[in-house]
Amino acid sequence: MKLSKEYWQERYSNHETGWDIGSASAPLKEYIDGLSDKSLKILIPGCGNAYEAAYLYEKGFINTYLVDFAEAPLKAFAEKYPEFPKEQLICNDFFNLEGQFDLILEQTFFCALDPALRNDYCRKMSTLLAPKGKLVGLLFNQKFEKEGPPFGGFLEEYKPQFSQFLNIQVLEECRNSIPPRAGKELFMICSEK
Ligand SMILES: C[S@@+](CC[C@H](N)C(=O)[O-])C[C@H]1O[C@@H](n2cnc3c(N)ncnc32)[C@H](O)[C@@H]1O
Repeated sequence: MKLSKEYWQERYSNHETGWDIGSASAPLKEYIDGLSDKSLKILIPGCGNAYEAAYLYEKGFINTYLVDFAEAPLKAFAEKYPEFPKEQLICNDFFNLEGQFDLILEQTFFCALDPALRNDYCRKMSTLLAPKGKLVGLLFNQKFEKEGPPFGGFLEEYKPQFSQFLNIQVLEECRNSIPPRAGKELFMICSEK
């Protein structure tokens, strides 16, 4: 049950969604604001309520794919954005996903996975990136006292993990985090190796 599809479904049913900040995070908004090519094929894995997807959609990015194995947030997103292409809302395990993307956005998905899957996450990301594609997002730079999720970590342990499969372009303390996460997260940009 722990960390299974059913576990996450239940978290949504019980409204135990402490990770949900109710909007796209400031660092991701700023990154998106700097993009001009609206045709980019974008993936949001473990998208939850997918505020980044709504932000992208409202800005005219039409090629965004959402993946989550919990149905509830995808259903809620489809109801809120009935025009959003249904075939781009994918209820599946991230690790079963196929395809290639120009941009993959990370927001509290990595920290939701069992840490034993971190190499698999990096390997899978490397296969999902199109040539010149980028994995961009946030990683916690702290450990949590309570048992996860979220599972924390630190810059120095992420570096060797990510660089085994991906080319790290940026991995540094995030300067524009939302206030409750200030000083506790890293901004990351990785590309294909
Ligand atoms: C901590 S939540 C983050 C949701 C969203 N990114 C946010 O920041 O609000 C983690 C999400 O990842 C999803 N998830 C966890 N493991 C997954 C997997 N293997 N495949 C697809 N989705 C997964 C969960 O259902 C949950 O919606």
